Amino acid sequence: MQVIIAADYEDMSDRAAAIVIEAVRRKPDIVLGLATGSTPEGLYARLVAAHQEDGLDFSRVVTFNLDEYVDLPPDHPQSYRYFMNEKLFDHVNIDKANTHVPNGMAECLSDECARYEQMLLDAGGIDLQVLGIGRDGHIAFNEPGTALHSPTHIAALTPETIEDNSRFFDNSEDVPRFAITMGVGSITHARRCLLLTSGESKAPAARAAIEGPVTSMVTGSALQMHSSTVAIVDAAAAAKLDRIDYYRWQQENWDRIAERL
Ligand code: PGA
Repeated sequence: MQVIIAADYEDMSDRAAAIVIEAVRRKPDIVLGLATGSTPEGLYARLVAAHQEDGLDFSRVVTFNLDEYVDLPPDHPQSYRYFMNEKLFDHVNIDKANTHVPNGMAECLSDECARYEQMLLDAGGIDLQVLGIGRDGHIAFNEPGTALHSPTHIAALTPETIEDNSRFFDNSEDVPRFAITMGVGSITHARRCLLLTSGESKAPAARAAIEGPVTSMVTGSALQMHSSTVAIVDAAAAAKLDRIDYYRWQQENWDRIAERL
């Protein structure tokens, strides 16, 4: 895993946007995996600006979101479909038919999981997957104990996740207890992963995912087995990393060989 230490949230978002913009320019029909939550909001704002100010073209881009709450309709302000429309899709020239979010309203949830997994395969897999991380080290809604080869499945949220996400709802009772989520296996099949981590509260999770043992107790640690993951960690989230000096040294010196890469 390549670890980049960013100064702060804005710097993390700038660096993430540079990677995604470059990837879209190189492959206009790219399949992007997208995440919701506070962490990627800065990235999406920059993608919107890149479209509106520099003409970044999303007309052939295909997207798959990581997850969706069970039983929140797409027009519910806390649904992940709503979030994506509001933060990104409504402001760029993407074809909504090419944007995929699991259907949390599906009558048969296991059929919906199988359908979503099949759609990922039919699209040829994800080229670049954007990820945040939970305080418990989860990626998407892969809570501690989720099989590291899991496909798209139904997840029961942990009390910690419900508490974290209750900030978006009137009270914690309103937070759905279940979600459809891409599995750790679905995520690690992506050709590249981009893990974004910001803030002091994420420092233990960043440490566990990046430097801890690979374990289903911290599903983000599965990215250590992935051959092309970049983690962009802001200084607050990087505070507990053991090898932070090495990551910084590497970052400063990488340019010396950049032309030969
Ligand atoms: P956050 O959520 O970006 O809102 O912190 C991340 C996550 O729980 O995966």
